[in-house]
Parts: sequence; C-alpha cells; structure tokens
Amino acid sequence: MDEFVIDGGRRLKGSYLVNGSKNSALPILIATLLTDDECVIDNVPRLRDIRTTVRLLETLGKKVVWTGKRLRISYARPLKTHASYDIVKQMRASILVAGPLLARFGKVRVSLPGGCAIGLRPVDIHIQGLETLGAAYAAQEGDVVLSGRLRPAKVRFRFPSVGATENIMTAAAAVPGRTVIEGAAREPEIEDLAGFLRAMGAKVSGAGTSRIVVDGVSRLKGVRHRVIPDRIEAGTLMLAVAAAGGTVTFKDARPEHLAALIAAMKRAGARVAAVRGGLRVSAEGRPRPISVTTEPHPGFPTDVQAPWMAYMSQAKGDSRIRESIFERRFLHAAELARMGARVAVSGDAAFVTGVSELTGAAVMASDIRAGAGLVVAALAAKGRTVIQRVYHIDRGYERLETVLRRLGARIRRLR
Ligand code: EPZ
Repeated sequence: MDEFVIDGGRRLKGSYLVNGSKNSALPILIATLLTDDECVIDNVPRLRDIRTTVRLLETLGKKVVWTGKRLRISYARPLKTHASYDIVKQMRASILVAGPLLARFGKVRVSLPGGCAIGLRPVDIHIQGLETLGAAYAAQEGDVVLSGRLRPAKVRFRFPSVGATENIMTAAAAVPGRTVIEGAAREPEIEDLAGFLRAMGAKVSGAGTSRIVVDGVSRLKGVRHRVIPDRIEAGTLMLAVAAAGGTVTFKDARPEHLAALIAAMKRAGARVAAVRGGLRVSAEGRPRPISVTTEPHPGFPTDVQAPWMAYMSQAKGDSRIRESIFERRFLHAAELARMGARVAVSGDAAFVTGVSELTGAAVMASDIRAGAGLVVAALAAKGRTVIQRVYHIDRGYERLETVLRRLGARIRRLR
C-alpha cells in the first residue's frame, strides 16, 4: 500500500491551479442518469471517488469516456435500477442514484451505506424526502428499496444535509410540477448542481439559500457543464501554506466559497488576499490560537477541520475546535499527537494546546481529510513523517505529492 514520505520544514511557494470539485462532480455525474442524451462534464478531477462513480454509472448501464478532465456520458443500454453493496461500500455518495432513478423508473434499490470512520452517517433525511415525494420505502437485505410514482411536494429537512438536498433536487427535476425544499443545504456544490439541472431543462431557483424551488419537467436533455473549483482542495493547500510558511497563489480559488476559512486564517495571522482570478496566501511563523466550530455552509467547513487542527497545533496558545457535523471526526487527533501535537478530545470538542514544534513520525490516514490534515502537519514538522493508507487521501486529492513538490515541499510516494 502506498505511503507518503515527507521531510518537513520547507516553505511553500509558487502558484497552483485549483482542481475541479470532487463533491460537485459526484452529484452532477450521477444526475446524468436523468437523461439518455449525451452529457459532457468538464473540469472533473482524476480521483478515486470519480473512478468509483464512473464504475457505478457503467454498472447501471451508461457508457463513459474519460479523457483528461472531461467525462462524456452517453446511452449504452437500458438503465438498471440497482446499486449493489460492492460499489456503495466504497463510496457513500452512491446513495445519490436513488433520486434520479426513482424519478425516472418508479423504483430503485441501493445498498444502505454503513457507518464510516467519521460517523454514523444515516440516510434517513434522503429517504424521508423521497417519501414526501410519494415513494414507498422498504428495507430489504441491507438495501434501501424505494418505489412509486413521484409527485411534486413540499419537503422540509430537519437538518440541511448536502446529499439529501442533492438527491431530492435531482429527483424533483424529473417530476413535472413544483417541488419546494425547505431547510436545504446552501453549499456551493448545490448551486453547481442547480446550474446543471437548469441546463438540462428543469427550472431551479433558490440554490444557495435554504429554500430551493424546482419546477420539474418530464424530459431532460443532455448538456455540457464545467464543474466549479474545489474549495476543499484549495482550503487544504491554503492551510498547508499557512502551517509551513511561504507564499502561494491559488488560481481559480473562489473567495466567496471560502469566506469562513479565510476569516479564521486572517485572525490567526495568515495573509489572504483576493487577486485576479484567485487568492494569494502568505504566512510566517506560528499562528495565533483561534477557535472554530464546524457548521453547514456558509459556516466553517468540516472538510478542512483536520488541516485546521494541524495548523492550530503549532499556535502560540490554546484553541478549541467544535465539530458539529460529524460525530467521530477527530481520529486525526491521536495521529497528530504522535507528531508532538497536544490535543485533548472530549465529545464534540478538541482542545489544542499549541506547541513550538511538531516532529516527524509514522502516522496513518483514516479518511480523506484526516489524511490531508496529517500532510499539513508533516509539511510544518521538523524531520521525516511517513503517512500510511494514502489511498484515503487519493480519494479526494489528485496527486497531492506532485502538487506539493511543485510548490517546494519534499514529499514522495512510496509504492
Ligand atoms: C457531503 O457529505 C460531503 N460529501 C462531505 O465530504 C462533507 O463532509 C459533508 O457533505 C458536509 O459538508 C459529498 O459531497 C460527496 P450531509 P454528505 O448529508 O452529503 C447527518 C469529503 O471528505 N445526516 O450534509 O454525506 C450526517 O450523518 C466528504 O469530501 C443524517 O443524519 O453530508 C452528518 O452528521 C466527507 N441523515 C450530517 O448530517 C441523513 O439522511 C451532514 O451530512 C443525512 C445526513
């Protein structure tokens, strides 16, 4: 299994063109199930999770041609309506096939994603939403089975789940009439999906607010779409610069998608400035201790919580991180402790006592972002860090070692 070997303590410099967003690409690729026409999706990152999605679409009956950053998805044979456990267990976002397949074919069977390293992650909000649209739900042999002809309705979420918002929006696009989602997630990825569904022929308004209105149509057409830049990849690398020191320009990074992180970084002492077509980050020395709470967008994103902890572990004082989205997303704390960080976890809070120096160690990634947090820590640390289970990192970051090497880091992949 691959490992990263990182010799820390090198400043980062240069510029980097941010990749397309994984979490935008996934629901958009899955929403191509709404049509038999060809769809062309650009700016798709080359990641393990995208490969899994391509396999999922192919298993369901689509033809997918992947060249560079472009995916061409077209009709190959009549679609199947069953996504089995061998794919769903690799990527929980597979549950997003439920909405479009149910809306088109009146039935769908998706293996129930189990819990994972960061939390229980149930799909009750997805199911309730689809039930509100008229589906009948049954649990069968570990699968979610939904059936029935969907009709437009008012759906109200108890929590702004990103995936559930995407699932219901996508279903509603293919259900003639007006569906309203209240308590919707407001993430930029939702706006990107809304743009895609609009281009396909549905009317979607309110994306980016907590009330989304979808006027669905019976036939959606194939379109061409460019995925938005990945705010989490950008945020992770911004924190790498802040932790290791240096100056890097991030081309295509969108300040409006990163406002909470930028505000926190500035308070910590990093310099973050909007430049033409992107952002420039520079930092020197140890940060000020700043406490944050992860929240649904536009709050501080849970997906940069681990890199933030790595950054704060060298702060000049004590800070606290509250994780309000996932119940087990502090597994990186124990690994950071192996590098000399002082972090005490209690319930949903992590208390970080800044140390003057992290030191290299052998550590293990437990999920995509925990792994990214370890990379950030390793870049700032003195000495050599070896990160195991890099396959987690590869799910969400495209050749992170190459990116960082170009920015001046000493990092290599051992196969
Ligand atoms: C998306 O996951 C992202 N994944 C996650 O990124 C991200 O961390 C998360 O949103 C929050 O921003 C993709 O976009 C593919 P949620 P999602 O539904 O949709 C609970 C990464 O590293 N919940 O908003 O699964 C759930 O358990 C990944 O790139 C229910 O209780 O997130 C969690 O505690 C990790 N019932 C919270 O809501 C439900 O039916 C947020 O989940 C659905 C969710």
